[in-house]
Parts: sequence; C-alpha cells; structure tokens
Amino acid sequence: MNAFHPMFDLSDKTALVVGASSGIGLHASHTFVQAGAAVALGARRIDQLNAAVTALRSAGHRACAVTLDITKPETIATAWQASEVQLGRSIDILFNNAGVIYLERFVSQQATEVERIFSTNLKGAFLMAQEAARRMAERGTGSIINVASTSGMRAGAYLASYGASKAGLIHLTRIMALELASRGVRVNALAPGNIRTDMHSQFEASGLDENLLKRIPMRKFGECRDLDGATLLLASEAGSYITGTVIPIDGGQLLSWM
Ligand SMILES: NC(=O)c1ccc[n+]([C@@H]2O[C@H](COP(=O)([O-])OP(=O)(O)OC[C@H]3O[C@@H](n4cnc5c(N)ncnc54)[C@H](OP(=O)(O)O)[C@@H]3O)[C@@H](O)[C@H]2O)c1
Repeated sequence: MNAFHPMFDLSDKTALVVGASSGIGLHASHTFVQAGAAVALGARRIDQLNAAVTALRSAGHRACAVTLDITKPETIATAWQASEVQLGRSIDILFNNAGVIYLERFVSQQATEVERIFSTNLKGAFLMAQEAARRMAERGTGSIINVASTSGMRAGAYLASYGASKAGLIHLTRIMALELASRGVRVNALAPGNIRTDMHSQFEASGLDENLLKRIPMRKFGECRDLDGATLLLASEAGSYITGTVIPIDGGQLLSWM
C-alpha cells in the first residue's frame, strides 16, 4: 500500500529548494523526493549540495545541485534556469528557505549585520519568490512556500532584525497570495518555532534564553521532520485551495506567554 494519500503524490512535480545545503532545506529535499518529486538543491556551499545530490541519486531519486546566493540577484535567474535544464522540466514548487540569524540587543545591532539579515531573509527571499512567481504565473500553476519563523509573529528579545525580516516575509506572503491567486499560483508560509539545526544550535549555544524549553508547551524542540506534513500539504494537490496562510510549527509556543 502506498504510504501517501494520492493527493500528496508529487511524482509529476519538480521542486527548487533554496537553502538546501543543511538543516530544514536539506531535509525538505529528502521529503520532496520521497513524495516522488524531482528536486534541485540550491545554496552557496556547492560541496554540501553535491554530496547531498550524490546520496539522493544513489537512492534512485532525481536531483541536481545549483549554486545560488540570494543576496546576489544575478544568480537567482541563472540558478532557476540551471535547475530546469538539469531536471528537464519547469519548476512547480519553490521552497524558499534560505535564511541567516543574528542575535544581539536592538541597541547594539551593527549596520553590516542588519544589512546581512535583511538582504538575505527579506530582500533575497523577495527576489527569489518574484522569479518563481513570474515564471509560474506564465504557466498558470505553481506553489511557493516561504520559510518564515514564529519570530516574525511575536516579539523575541535579541531578534530585532531577524524577527522584523521574518515578519516582512509573512506580510509579503499574503500580498503575493492575493495578487497571484487568480493566476494559478499559491503562496503560503511555514513559521517554524525551535527546530534542531545548525542555526538553532547558535541560538542554544548563545545562552540568551535559559528558559527556552520551559516556554514550549510540548517541552521539546522540533526536528526537521516535524515540518514534513505542512510542507507536503502546501506543495501538493492536497493544498490546492490553500493560499495566503502561515502555518506555525512550534510545539504550541505561540500559545504561551510564559
Ligand atoms: N531552526 C529553527 O529553529 C528555525 C526556526 C524558524 C525559522 N527557521 C528558518 O528556517 C530556514 C532554514 O534554517 P535552518 O535552521 O535549516 O538553518 P541552516 O541549517 O543554517 O540553513 C540555512 C540555509 O540557508 C542557506 N543560505 C543562507 N544564506 C544564503 C544565501 N545568501 N543564498 C542562498 N542560500 C543561503 C544556507 O546555505 P549556504 O550557507 O550553503 O548558502 C543553508 O542551506 C531559515 O530561513 C530560518 O530562518 C529556522
């Protein structure tokens, strides 16, 4: 028996995963191929991507690697084209996941770091999504999944530029969804809470929030696989009437003020 309900089947789909060299994006690449999709993995660290693609191909999946730095707009269209050439198909799904973090009190945040955060998490994600939207709208079909954060939904100390960038991405998601709905393109966001990855290790190691675990009602950090259900829902036919939503995946943390 197929483990997937047919509505979640992506075997006739292609996905571009941005920020696929580690963490959530690398895991999502596995999730997409397991659902049948052909996947292009994009990021700056090409060695990591090539290693991941080798592993995926040896497991019989269709995958390719593309170098991409979303702070360099000229690389965005090139990477999109390279993905389509290598996979031999138009891209149906964008997993817009690249992001960086900066932990510092608001009054001490440095302009160069603020620039790095906004140019990646907001401007870069904006331009990446715009490239996808233009191409998908032309074909009249597509799904864009922006990876935001619960930090963009409520205030968190030390996260001024990061949280503001993610709040911007959430608002952008809604505007994109509004403008693109009639053109066959769905746009949604995931808002992870605390998911164990390299980025989350930086936050844990900082010691800035000793009570972090106590403020998560489920009393545990999430794993990358905890995003799978929402990712497949938004990417597939199962989510065909869903656009403009933001799905928190946070063990209930948004419910709690303590
Ligand atoms: N982990 C969490 O608890 C958590 C919570 C909420 C939201 N998120 C969001 O989830 C996303 C993935 O984070 P993660 O936790 O998986 O962290 P991660 O392991 O550090 O992954 C970040 C990914 O983004 C890529 N990236 C960074 N800057 C890039 C750029 N300029 N161009 C292209 N790719 C770039 C990195 O690849 P290269 O360095 O190779 O370019 C890497 O693949 C981020 O947007 C993050 O804000 C994470």
